[in-house]
Amino acid sequence: TYEKLWLVAAMVLIVGFIATITYGSVGLGITMVGDQQPTIEPSEISDDERFGEPRVEHVGENEYEAYVVAQTFAFSPDPIEVPANSEVTFYVTARDVIHSFSVAGTNINTMVIPGEIAEMTVEFDEPGEYGIVCNEYCGSGHHDMEGMLHVV
Ligand code: CUA
Repeated sequence: TYEKLWLVAAMVLIVGFIATITYGSVGLGITMVGDQQPTIEPSEISDDERFGEPRVEHVGENEYEAYVVAQTFAFSPDPIEVPANSEVTFYVTARDVIHSFSVAGTNINTMVIPGEIAEMTVEFDEPGEYGIVCNEYCGSGHHDMEGMLHVV
């Protein structure tokens, strides 16, 4: 009967739908791990092209990349200086223990884990001065672990 045919067609659609969702999320999961959790061994930081000399690099019109290393109990470079009207991608890694890279007054707030590179892109429209703090307890100097971000 037609009724039976419709039932089969509906089942096929549902199974296909579930398969698509499952396949899609698995694919996405793999991509995210690769893109968002790049790694660098702490022992390789000093010799690394990017993190060996923590700095801000001009990579395109109004585009900058900031390579930042967190280490008990400071951020490097300090201060971090970027121009206003710019888009800055921060790459932050830790040399020793877990820290955080948190810029007061912005939504930049990321855990920084040895062996991993935290990445975030932020637009700065206007000049300003922002304090950088560490929100993860990292030892006796944790409360003094501060830096500055200058948007000039
Ligand atoms: Cu670094 Cu707390």
